[in-house]
Amino acid sequence: MLDFAKDLAQQAGQLLKDGLGRARDIRFKGEADLVTEMDLASENLITRAIQTNFPSHAILAEESGSLGPTESGYRWVIDPLDGTVNYAHGVPLFCVSIGLEKDGIPLLGVICAPTLGETYWAERGAGAFLNGTPLHVSSQKRLDQALLVTGFPHELGRAPETLNVFGAFVDASQAVRRLGSSALDLAWVAAGRFDAFWEPRLMPWDVCAGIVLVEEAGGRVSNFESKPFTTDDKRIIASNGHLHDPLLHVMTQARLAKP
Ligand code: IPD
Ligand code: CA
Ligand code: CA
Repeated sequence: MLDFAKDLAQQAGQLLKDGLGRARDIRFKGEADLVTEMDLASENLITRAIQTNFPSHAILAEESGSLGPTESGYRWVIDPLDGTVNYAHGVPLFCVSIGLEKDGIPLLGVICAPTLGETYWAERGAGAFLNGTPLHVSSQKRLDQALLVTGFPHELGRAPETLNVFGAFVDASQAVRRLGSSALDLAWVAAGRFDAFWEPRLMPWDVCAGIVLVEEAGGRVSNFESKPFTTDDKRIIASNGHLHDPLLHVMTQARLAKP
């Protein structure tokens, strides 16, 4: 199933790369929530291949929702294009994210960033890899020297707490980045490029594959209350492990502070 997922993520990644700068049909799902013809083409390619090869498995895909039978306990969780806003503007930071859960637990994850020539994969108990090279999270123990990454909900104006937390992390860390692709954010925590990532309002397809990558690379993933993260949690914090408790402390203080 891992080889199948790698091959599929790379096929979908190539499709997206070929279409970059040519996405003409852009629609709005919400006020600032885009979908392009390429999200749909990538999702079609992925869901069809899963339905052909694993007809007994369920699928949760961003644009189609829930598909297929649920009895097997297997569920593929798909973001066919993570980083749609980047993609629609021709910014080459985006990826395909394919996760597989068994009985609700993420089992394997593949993230393909085609413009970077990078495919990340991980399987529970078998490690995390970038193009075949084993990955490990960073060893940074000092928050003031840490490079963090985050993402914002579309309705930022209605989420003053988000800005409080952002400000607190800007003050406490070396720097904070915002890439526009949560799956890639998680892959880069697994790769040790970022020391930690947090985001307040994500969906299962944004994080399913990335969680396996971070955990298999030796990192820690939780919700904002420090509880083990489940893919139905929307609020995620993922780190190299060393920084997890200090980060949660800063976050809790910032969330308690008045906007
Ligand atoms: C988005 C990206 C972004 C995050 C948003 C997501 P999409 O996914 O992961 O980094 O900040 O919350 O919705 O819409 O590009 O698949
Ligand atoms: Ca996404
Ligand atoms: Ca998407």
